Amino acid sequence: MRTWGRSLVVAGLAATQLTNAYELDLSSKESIKDVARSIAEDMMTFYTGNLPGEVPGLLPDPYYWWESGALMGSLIDYWYYTGDTRWNDIVEEGLLFQVGPNNDYMPPNQTLTEGNDDQGFWGMAVLSAAEYKFKDPPRDKPQWLALAQAVFNSQAAR
Ligand SMILES: *[C@@H]1O[C@H](CO)[C@@H](O)[C@H](O)[C@H]1NC(C)=O
Repeated sequence: MRTWGRSLVVAGLAATQLTNAYELDLSSKESIKDVARSIAEDMMTFYTGNLPGEVPGLLPDPYYWWESGALMGSLIDYWYYTGDTRWNDIVEEGLLFQVGPNNDYMPPNQTLTEGNDDQGFWGMAVLSAAEYKFKDPPRDKPQWLALAQAVFNSQAAR
């Protein structure tokens, strides 16, 4: 539960900052896609994992590791529903960098504070990747379905 309080604060801050920025016409597919694109762009101003010297898949302090898992999953949804591939390479890089030595989203940097829910955000992201047929990782990397299965197996055993 520790993580949820933080998530609500973040969502609240984001809503306050962005309240006036979006003009959404729910009857227009283009408007919905435009607003989704703006929200994705705004969200990605928080992400630094694609910058030189930063760690792929991580948001900077004070954000938690699970929040970047949620970010990855939301960008997979975004791509699936809009067809916009703009963030896909960053998502693939982040998802594959954080798999940990056993390819189950238990990277040693995170396990001290990692709960099932934290790991679950990454698991849900790769499950979406598998279900939506997000572009496959390179052959020498773990594949989306295998990663999702590994998360399930580690949690089922616990
Ligand atoms: C773990 O932390 C170290 C030190 O910050 C960093 O170099 C490494 O890339 C991190 N690994 C992951 C998977 O985040």
